[in-house]
Amino acid sequence: MAPLTIPDLIRKKRDGEVHTRQELETLVLGYTRGEVPDYQISAWLMAVYLRGMTPQETADLTLVMAGSGDLMNLGDLPHTVDKHSTGGVGDKTSLILTPMLSALGLTVAKMSGRGLAHTGGTIDKLESIPGWTSELPEERFLAQAREIGLALVGQSKDLAPADGKLYALRDVTATVDCLPLIASSIMSKKLASGAHTVVLDVKVGAGAFMRTLEDGRALARAMVDIGTRAGRQVRAVLTDMDTPLGHMAGNSLEVLEALATLRGEGPHDLTELCVALAVEALAAHGEDETAAETRARATLADGSALQKFRAFVAAQGGDASYVDEPGKFDVAPGRADVTAPQAGFVAGIDALSVGRAVLALGGGRERKGEAIDHGVGVEVLKKPGEAVQAGEAVLRLYHRDGRGLNAAQELLQEGLRVAAAAPAPDALILDRVN
Ligand code: URA
Repeated sequence: MAPLTIPDLIRKKRDGEVHTRQELETLVLGYTRGEVPDYQISAWLMAVYLRGMTPQETADLTLVMAGSGDLMNLGDLPHTVDKHSTGGVGDKTSLILTPMLSALGLTVAKMSGRGLAHTGGTIDKLESIPGWTSELPEERFLAQAREIGLALVGQSKDLAPADGKLYALRDVTATVDCLPLIASSIMSKKLASGAHTVVLDVKVGAGAFMRTLEDGRALARAMVDIGTRAGRQVRAVLTDMDTPLGHMAGNSLEVLEALATLRGEGPHDLTELCVALAVEALAAHGEDETAAETRARATLADGSALQKFRAFVAAQGGDASYVDEPGKFDVAPGRADVTAPQAGFVAGIDALSVGRAVLALGGGRERKGEAIDHGVGVEVLKKPGEAVQAGEAVLRLYHRDGRGLNAAQELLQEGLRVAAAAPAPDALILDRVN
């Protein structure tokens, strides 16, 4: 039988059929080599989005993507751990957790992503620090991981390059929030970058790609299953993403909030999430959870995590004076507030609206490879449950010359709910999957 052509493979998925591993190789490796064009893969991604994939197809797709480039050998690095979030708004957890983990004696040598759809990305955030680069040759990456216990690279041409290309294409073709595509994207990077232990933060809610706890659990189980089959220790925590995490959304603003958290002065929800994820990582290495929690909190109180962050920024070419002089960050000078329409309690701040507002202000991408404005963003002045007066500012926009301001204000107004009674507090940690 003649081999199936690319249109045959697109048609197959369009009609809800199941791909073989070889077919996935033809599509994904062909695309990675530049032999299959964007427009055909865009059509195929939409077919996957609409038709889904079986667990076996998802696992096969992950292995094809992981094998599309080099497989990092972390060899004899001690206690390697990787962390990944499925993506949220105001989710600057990696900036805090990774130096905490290295201060705790674990080795973090990890690949991070850029912003995707309405969610931010660690690399974009770190690039708010002048000079900081996500491009490290492999030897330097490994040497830095050995010396400091923390090295972070961007999606490289060498590690899971298929994901790098597919990720950027999904971002602009409305094919991001799809379980098999998210699971394979995340786990291909985790498998290629070689860490023994992986802690996954699966976000659930309005600002996440998984809107319900049930979908979040299914994604968590799929990723834990893929990782376990590949011989890794994988733990997933499901966490709330109805409301932005912490107070800040937008690149420089989030780094500023991460630095405050590393100084022990961070918002409660963000601090607690970082401690909980650190406990998961230590528990995966056999540590007692109570002792792990005490040690994790100590890294924020005694400055050891901040010290790791400083060393990490400097090692990757960043101007480390920014770590101690927050006033140096480029924060957009324009300000506008969204106020409470009536007195009462903040009942909801829709994380998706906040993420989209940041995009509208220029803090994220609408086209592949677009430059972003690191200085714009949104500050949540009052979190759900807090009392407000009529006309009191609840959200603050940081804009540059009014760019996108009207659209951002409208989004935030739509996403803000003020009620007469205080809402029941939401749990931050919703479930765990081991
Ligand atoms: N994070 C990833 O790395 N990939 C996705 O598809 C979604 C979130």
